[in-house]
Amino acid sequence: MQKLVIQGGIPLRGEVRISGAKNAALPMMCASLLTSDVLQLSNMPDLHDIATMRKLLEQMGVKAVVQGDEMTLHGAQVDRLEAPYDMVKTMRAAVLVLGPLVARFGEARVSMPGGCAIGSRPVDIHIKGLQAMGAQVFIEHGYIHAQAKRLKGARILFDIVSVTSTENLMMAAALAEGVTVLENAAREPEVVDLAHCLIAMGAKIEGAGSHTIVITGVDRLHGTTHRIMPDRIESGTFLVAAAATGGSIVLRDTRADILDAVLEKLTEAGACIRSDSENIHLDMMDRPRSVNVRTAPYPAFPTDMQAQFMALNAIAEGSAMVVETIFENRFMHVQELHRLGARIDVEGNTALIHGIDHLEGATVMATDLRASACLIIAGLVAQGETVIDRIYHLDRGYEHIEIKLSQLGANILRINK
Ligand code: EPU
Repeated sequence: MQKLVIQGGIPLRGEVRISGAKNAALPMMCASLLTSDVLQLSNMPDLHDIATMRKLLEQMGVKAVVQGDEMTLHGAQVDRLEAPYDMVKTMRAAVLVLGPLVARFGEARVSMPGGCAIGSRPVDIHIKGLQAMGAQVFIEHGYIHAQAKRLKGARILFDIVSVTSTENLMMAAALAEGVTVLENAAREPEVVDLAHCLIAMGAKIEGAGSHTIVITGVDRLHGTTHRIMPDRIESGTFLVAAAATGGSIVLRDTRADILDAVLEKLTEAGACIRSDSENIHLDMMDRPRSVNVRTAPYPAFPTDMQAQFMALNAIAEGSAMVVETIFENRFMHVQELHRLGARIDVEGNTALIHGIDHLEGATVMATDLRASACLIIAGLVAQGETVIDRIYHLDRGYEHIEIKLSQLGANILRINK
């Protein structure tokens, strides 16, 4: 089992390149199921979740070739319309094959995802959307089995804003007969990036990035090339790490315009931030000030940055309240921060953090992807040695993070133990 060992107390300094966005790459890989032509994606991050999705698509008959940060996907010979339990249980994003498979082949079998470390995370919205488009959906033997001769355009009102439901149904609607209107759609930048890729494949999509997305179905989509957007959560994670350690860093190949809520909170915490079209500079002179955070769908503060701000608040001056409104069980990192000495009280979906002078190194356990990032930040500021166990969670979504942090001066090592 691999672990990370961090000697804390070194301010991060220097430059780091931001990778392509995991949560844009995953749905876009599934878009390869919508065409028999070649889809070529660049700026692909090297991550476990991407490898899992590649394996799943290959099992279905998609030919995938990786060269550097480019992935070529060819869905001409798809012959297995199924996402089995073993794949879905390790990566819930596998549900994103549902819409494309039903739209192009008229059928899909996808294992029902169970609960996970951050919440119950049902898929009822994905299913209801497909039913509204005329699919027959049966839940049998733990699988979602969907069938439709050809999906039909429909007006679908989401009662909860859901990122992957919006993406799944946008892909399904691209090949449906007639017009689909998605109301109260997710506005996340990853939804917009997927829409750009689909439009380049010949889809007719308007309004991505707003509450209402209108998709006019076409008979077929073709191949294209697309560069995946930068990962805004990786960007935010490095910025919080630099702010917490009192460092000074520059992020390259990123975008500030999709990080407004995070940059605002970092400024409130005392960071000095400058940005241009592809770079973000952050300088932190003093101890951070506590900042209240309330997660909500984009453009509000992202749930995927909540854990990292918890680490920042743990050593900040003052007290802060963090409210998690998206996932009901996304405070697992709190117990681990307690092991490092943090003072945090949790009541329901609200955490009250009393900032303390310093954390003390200890052995802690990563419980999910973003909790791992929180523990790394805590380890970077803690006095002495922090050992993080179960880092396979981290490898799902952060490309070579210990190498990137080492480049910024951190004392961090991956060990096999
Ligand atoms: N929900 C339902 N029914 C559904 C779908 C969602 O009740 O059918 C609920 C969820 O339980 C949650 C809320 O709707 O309470 C919003 O969840 P959403 O569907 O937006 O989440 P997701 O699409 O499953 C994506 C990201 C997550 C990120 C969330 C929220 C991908 C592959 N995953 O998940 O990323 O936290 O949106 O922004 O895009 C991560 O990268 O660490 C991660 C968990």
